[in-house]
Amino acid sequence: MLNGKSNKPVAVVTGANRGLGLETVRQLARRDIRVIVTCRNPSRGEAAFEKLVAEGLDVVFHALDVTSESSVAELGAFIHSRCGRVDMLVNNAGVYLDSHGTEDGGSASVFNASLETLSATLKTNLYGPLLLAQELVPLMKQQHYGRIVNVSSGMGQLSEMEGKSPAYRISKTALNALTRILAAETRGFNILVNSVCPGWVRTDMGGPNAEKTVEQGASGIVWAATLPDDGPSGGFFRDGQPISW
Ligand SMILES: NC(=O)c1ccc[n+]([C@@H]2O[C@H](COP(=O)([O-])OP(=O)(O)OC[C@H]3O[C@@H](n4cnc5c(N)ncnc54)[C@H](OP(=O)(O)O)[C@@H]3O)[C@@H](O)[C@H]2O)c1
Repeated sequence: MLNGKSNKPVAVVTGANRGLGLETVRQLARRDIRVIVTCRNPSRGEAAFEKLVAEGLDVVFHALDVTSESSVAELGAFIHSRCGRVDMLVNNAGVYLDSHGTEDGGSASVFNASLETLSATLKTNLYGPLLLAQELVPLMKQQHYGRIVNVSSGMGQLSEMEGKSPAYRISKTALNALTRILAAETRGFNILVNSVCPGWVRTDMGGPNAEKTVEQGASGIVWAATLPDDGPSGGFFRDGQPISW
């Protein structure tokens, strides 16, 4: 699938088989970036890959379950041996599990949130991005170039924190903390790490009544993934504009 190493920048997008991930791949690949389309379900991933190839885009597929340390390590080995570089990491894969088990399918209250839901949510939304950064930042440091986008949410903003959906909210607040820690520890390496809220977007997660199209939602993610060397690091953005933590 990958025709040898090239000088093109290489991006990795997690959870890229649908929604914001798929559209982020599309927008990055249109900018002459080779994108590794990753997803946990190989057949869904292959279907997305075929669709993107049919659009004439330079993409590569690799299976990745962000909750699995061995799966993350396999992706790292693949990137080292087949690409030799990684320029952008978009931590897009995410779950919203708070409605699971509630009688009306609505958002759980903090008073009946289960630790099982919290733990499963953190595993995907927080530990996944952490494992990927641990795997890929050493190569970015060697290259003296990297852009990491943690796809967060306004629901994780402490300044606007409301009730309900505790697992999702806590996971995104914690992801924002990870953004700040990664930004601090990569300072001086031309690696820019930022959190991006895509806004409320019409995807399976956002639902049909959301305000934004996937194209609009993904554009803020692509903005942060393609920042110039003098761009910000350790910030939280929506539509390319800073927002409060
Ligand atoms: N839509 C919104 O309004 C909105 C607002 C704010 C933030 N966000 C954030 O934007 C990101 C993308 O959301 P979306 O709206 O595009 O959601 P979505 O349509 O539900 O897509 C979520 C993606 O994450 C993948 N995923 C889940 N667990 C995974 C795992 N363990 N390993 C690899 N991939 C995994 C899913 O794969 P499967 O197909 O295999 O399930 C799917 O590809 C999420 O981080 C979300 O929290 C969305």
